Amino acid sequence: APSAAAADRNRDPEVIAHRGSSGVAPENTLAAVRQALRHRSDTVENDVQRTKDGELVIMHDTTLARTTDVEQVFPDRAPWKVGDFTLAEIKKLDAGSWFGPEFAGERVPTLAEWGAAVGNARMLLEPKAPELYPGIEKDLDRELNSVPALRKALKAGRIVVQSFNHAWLRDYKEIAPEVPVGLLYGSKPTAADIEAAATWAEQVNPALGVIDQATVDLVHDQDLEIHVWTVNDGQGMRRARDWGVDGIITNYPQVLRDLLHRS
Ligand code: G3P
Ligand code: CA
Repeated sequence: APSAAAADRNRDPEVIAHRGSSGVAPENTLAAVRQALRHRSDTVENDVQRTKDGELVIMHDTTLARTTDVEQVFPDRAPWKVGDFTLAEIKKLDAGSWFGPEFAGERVPTLAEWGAAVGNARMLLEPKAPELYPGIEKDLDRELNSVPALRKALKAGRIVVQSFNHAWLRDYKEIAPEVPVGLLYGSKPTAADIEAAATWAEQVNPALGVIDQATVDLVHDQDLEIHVWTVNDGQGMRRARDWGVDGIITNYPQVLRDLLHRS
């Protein structure tokens, strides 16, 4: 069905905080969510993975090494894969100090905690490397329908699920047909890709650097939305806005919000 955005191509693109306001706070933490809301983001993007004991947590890399102190806390547990640690173990980690001492003590949030923090804003969820977590589509579906903040957002149409793993996304769509989904692309989607996407998805979400105006037009011709990533400079933000994209994913939502406000 034609999306709301398809009906109004002239409106401003959604301001989407990439991993939260990750330019000014540690990515995928509640501190980054709070900054994103303060920066008047429409949407907060995150990355979702699963712990050893089956809990959904917010983490980008498939190991804990870059964004926590796991190497100090669990020196014998290399290569520190997310799925090799229980939630209780992950909750011991500091997910803020690597970014700056003022963020010491930030924890890796669960999806439930993250959803409660995002509250009434829109949510863009990216299950990361879902092929590493067999059945995570069922876990996600269960959680979106049971955690109050997530369920409320789901019913209000404020949740989109996106993935680079298009086969997995299709499996998820089978069990949750009511949830809008977005196909991530690191290289330019072809006209055939976009036509195929229109048969089952709602969004085509490529890197800004791989597309042009024609790509945006092809996506809109199919009544799909296009949300581009990760756009951190004013020049890129203006280019994407002028092409008429539906959303811009950025580490600096305050910069994008100011730019849209000014022009
Ligand atoms: O939202 C799109 C973007 O997040 C995809 O790349 O690596 O930041 O998850 P990545
Ligand atoms: Ca992501």
